[in-house]
Amino acid sequence: MAATAPITESETETETEPLSYAEFLARVPKVELHCHFPGAVFAATAIELAAKNGTELPTDDPNELYRYTTITGFLTALQAVSKTLVEREDFARVAYETLADGVRTGNLRYREMFFNPDYHSPQGATYETVVEGIGDGIRRAHAEFGVRCNLIAAMSRYHGPDAAVALVETVLAHPHELVIGVGMDDLTPEGKEAPELFVEAYTLANEHGLNTTAHVGEIDGSTAHDVLIALDVLGVDRIDHGYRILGDPTVVKRARDERVHFTTCPHSSVWLYDFTFEEHPIRQMFLQGLRIGLNTDDPPFFDTDLGKEFVVGAARMGFEPEQVAQLCMNAVEGCWLPEPEKDALREEFRRDIDALTARLR
Ligand code: ADE
Ligand code: ZN
Repeated sequence: MAATAPITESETETETEPLSYAEFLARVPKVELHCHFPGAVFAATAIELAAKNGTELPTDDPNELYRYTTITGFLTALQAVSKTLVEREDFARVAYETLADGVRTGNLRYREMFFNPDYHSPQGATYETVVEGIGDGIRRAHAEFGVRCNLIAAMSRYHGPDAAVALVETVLAHPHELVIGVGMDDLTPEGKEAPELFVEAYTLANEHGLNTTAHVGEIDGSTAHDVLIALDVLGVDRIDHGYRILGDPTVVKRARDERVHFTTCPHSSVWLYDFTFEEHPIRQMFLQGLRIGLNTDDPPFFDTDLGKEFVVGAARMGFEPEQVAQLCMNAVEGCWLPEPEKDALREEFRRDIDALTARLR
């Protein structure tokens, strides 16, 4: 992966050359709120780490590793790849590579990234090793590119409600400045979202002031009711995916009135479900006034990157320049940075987006 020639803030400020729409889409500054650390491992990196650490992968062909057509096939690959990371330096490498890629392809300025401690513990990587390793990579990317990143500890539905409570307890027992919230991904062994099963873990997290989010309303068969459960029973601050909310206009109205943020993912959802870019629920969610942002989810696993989510995703979904600006500003609003830092980001984004818009041909 080439981590060279990042798009930098000063470039966007000083250049005056006219920009094509594709260049504009790649270069607008971005905050990303839905990217999974294990889903951000480049295939070639996973294969190198498997060889280094003596762990098994189903193939050593980087072109074959990320081939599946169902969410369970994808989740199995995700867990296999996670097992290739063992030492602190492995976590640092992956964190650095994915942040560099976000900067290079999409002018990433700030990310809140999921990590799954339970994916790594069977190989002996402790919570501290995982967090410190990812932290090393974040610091290196920040020093080189100015990009920032905080972390969201993800409970795996597959491991069940007790493991979810244990994970929140671990997060609380090892406070770390980078870990600012908890989330939930995967599916139950029955292939369900079933958010209500995880109320105890979320209650604990909320009681201790952690920020909270959850994947809901994503999979075929999930409904707007799952989104409602996440809001009312789990008490989450924002929603990951949430496409099925469109099935109930009363839940849409509620989310719009409360300005709930949805972290949507164009390429992963087109890959996994029966959506097209041209008629995507993301577009409908936006037009119905929901506060959404665009994200990569698991970039190499869905053959995408942050730039592509906009250059291909936003363009094919029919977003126009001022709507793209809105998507970028929405992500700033939806992030969990303290208010003064958010304010600085708002100002920086407004200035850079205006400068880029003025150059559109
Ligand atoms: N883990 C990583 N990406 C996911 C997704 N899109 N849905 C559920 N779990 C995930
Ligand atoms: Zn996800």
